[in-house]
Amino acid sequence: MTRYLITSALPYINGVKHLGNLVGSMLPADVYARYLRGRGRNVFYLCATDEHGTPAELAAAEEGVPVSEYCKRQYDIQKAIYQRFDLSFDYFGRTSSAHNHRTTQYIYKSLRDRGYIDRRKIKQLYSPSDGRFLPDRYVMGTCPKCGDEQARGDQCDACLSLLEPTDLIKPRSAVSGSFDLKMRETEHLYLKLSAFEPLLREWVNKHSNWPLLTRSVALKWLNEGLRARCITRDLQWGVPVPEENMANKVFYVWFDAPIGYISAAQEWAESIGEPEAWRSWWESPTDVHYTQFMAKDNLPFHTVFFPAMLMGTGESWKQPDMIKAFNWLTYEGDKFSTRGNRGVFLDKAIDLFPADYWRWMLLAAAPESSDSSFTWSEFQNKVNKDLNDRLGNQVFRVLKLCAKQFGTIVPEGGVFGSEEVELEAKTGKLIAQIEQHYEKLEFRYLTQKIAELWSLGNNYFDRCVPWKKELKSERRAVVLRTSINLLRLCALVAEPIIPESSHVIQACLGEGKDAVDVWKEQKWIRAISSGRQFNVPESLFRKVSDREVAEFTMRFAGLSK
Ligand code: MF3
Ligand code: ZN
Repeated sequence: MTRYLITSALPYINGVKHLGNLVGSMLPADVYARYLRGRGRNVFYLCATDEHGTPAELAAAEEGVPVSEYCKRQYDIQKAIYQRFDLSFDYFGRTSSAHNHRTTQYIYKSLRDRGYIDRRKIKQLYSPSDGRFLPDRYVMGTCPKCGDEQARGDQCDACLSLLEPTDLIKPRSAVSGSFDLKMRETEHLYLKLSAFEPLLREWVNKHSNWPLLTRSVALKWLNEGLRARCITRDLQWGVPVPEENMANKVFYVWFDAPIGYISAAQEWAESIGEPEAWRSWWESPTDVHYTQFMAKDNLPFHTVFFPAMLMGTGESWKQPDMIKAFNWLTYEGDKFSTRGNRGVFLDKAIDLFPADYWRWMLLAAAPESSDSSFTWSEFQNKVNKDLNDRLGNQVFRVLKLCAKQFGTIVPEGGVFGSEEVELEAKTGKLIAQIEQHYEKLEFRYLTQKIAELWSLGNNYFDRCVPWKKELKSERRAVVLRTSINLLRLCALVAEPIIPESSHVIQACLGEGKDAVDVWKEQKWIRAISSGRQFNVPESLFRKVSDREVAEFTMRFAGLSK
């Protein structure tokens, strides 16, 4: 039986992430992991903090603490937040771990020994006023490709080009802002990416099932021609380069970060006291299906750079079978901004509303086929209309009416009429569509179809008017029993997305003791038979008021532009 390896892009350590980061990798990965586990599959879902590189050093410097201390603190903070969002990592590691250091150096050495590393003397930007060489993000300037003025020395966020600091027009120091930069000679290591072009092309072409976004970014990279990429940096914090005369250098953060996927598994293996257990997931497994989740700016690294690194070792490391990428989530039509204090960051978000509200809303608004925008009015809409009206209210009115008419027990009597036969057909069809959307990682469609299923229950109930005294008791019993079954289904298929609420509903219905695979079970609206006890829950969700929308819109708007 296939085993499923899942990773979500490793969030940078430099501060609490925002809603866009969550929906762009960790949340969909978690939903997929939960879906597969719910179906009895063997899942291994890994993530970690990405702790090296200039962002970490710059953030620690700003707080005036040693970078290792900064990272430890931020790791604990981020980890706790993800727990509150119910992200079900099998392990959440750190790229600063000893395992990652070891594995990064190991992979580097095999690349070197197989001739894929160049040692080059280069002229690099040196800032006399900062007294140091300026690696990637320490330099900012104008993008040579698109003219954006906020391009960083490693990448332009506006056009997604990978850059070297010396590519920038009018470069300036990100530390001091100084334009007085000199060129000085220094030595660095380069990965000869072009050597992998044919192999990479073949590999990308083989995966015709990858989403368009993934394939197009991969092919754009390959078609532009690959050039050797510098894999060392003049920093203190990072994985040391195991070469002579390179004591002041560490590996480029994008060199060791993806290796963090592997070392998270190693950390996990050690934590369970089976230090070799990670190997069966990463070392040439034939039964592992590997899915990566990330935002689109990460694609070049996952479709070209990291696969090439692994290919270059000559060992058969597990490569991804599926790469699912997301566009940008904007905040009310504009960028999230830490500095501008604009948008909702995860610590604030989870203090305001329970995880399920965010999980549902964000997935429904996921930037899947294009960029999308988080708006408070859409948040209100999804919470009030979907979670409250369609799901929460339905649970409440069905169970309450049943309790009133028959007691808190699923009623017996009556048989399916044409309404139920039709309902069952519609249900079966929707459930099959929901399954497809889970399998194909189509998260927006997924939430739409689940919401349709919730509505189906409402409409059926309204049409059959089980509260009418004129109806025969047998007929009322059928409608209520069927409605209760539909509640069960509504909760089960949404469990990967809104686990807490789903569990509450299941518990009310006396479900949830054993794992059920609704798709395999195929009992649709017949699983719960008469005689079962149930509880009427307190209200499951609360509504978001207009006053809150107005207040939060103000509160999170940030500094005026
Ligand atoms: N920290 C990076 C980002 O947030 C993602 C790193 S993914 C990994 O964009 F491949 F390096 F792990
Ligand atoms: Zn650009």
